[in-house]
Amino acid sequence: MTHPDEFTISRRGLLKAGAASASVPAMAGALPAEAAPAPTAGEPAPMPVTLTVNGSTHRLMLDTRTTLLDTLREHLHLTGTKKGCDHGQCGACTVMVEGRRINSCLTLAVMHHGAKVTTIEGLGQPGNLHPMQAAFVKHDGFQCGYCTPGQICSAVGMLAEMAQGVPSHVTADLNAAPQLSTVEFRERMSGNICRCGAYSNIAEAIGEVAGVKA
Ligand code: FES
Ligand code: FES
Repeated sequence: MTHPDEFTISRRGLLKAGAASASVPAMAGALPAEAAPAPTAGEPAPMPVTLTVNGSTHRLMLDTRTTLLDTLREHLHLTGTKKGCDHGQCGACTVMVEGRRINSCLTLAVMHHGAKVTTIEGLGQPGNLHPMQAAFVKHDGFQCGYCTPGQICSAVGMLAEMAQGVPSHVTADLNAAPQLSTVEFRERMSGNICRCGAYSNIAEAIGEVAGVKA
């Protein structure tokens, strides 16, 4: 679906922008000159950013200070990703970029130009839940649900990290594959805070997907 914030690239616009923007980074060369809102004095010029979110490609004009979180929520209206603290402390904003979990409030959208992003909406849908989503439902891994999208994205990303052999602070043998264990899960999920305190149920849900008894 095309959103009003998105822009289209025409051959003519591309050539015009390329001629007009010789002093700005190469990425801005894709910007049709007529599509660029004039920046107010002292503000950076908007830049074109392309993101593939949950399989759909979006071309946006963004203030370069826009976080990935605000891009998802305010520009693409994917409000499943939550804003808790907005400064990297709670994990509610966790999404996956190129398959790796990331706090989307701590990173700028322009840093991910061309990247593939997966949000909670892209993991699964009602009637076709991702196994981690289904396990959270089965084990009551939430109460208010505010932290839950971040918890689920983080858990999916965490198991992928472990499968790739990424060690954690509690990994005993850095030369061996990380052991799937509740201790590892709890350490690796420590960046995702749940104010409702659903931690034991969250651990059970993750354990079920990983095949480990919590
Ligand atoms: Fe990003 Fe809290 S909203 S870590
Ligand atoms: Fe309420 Fe986690 S379910 S904050």
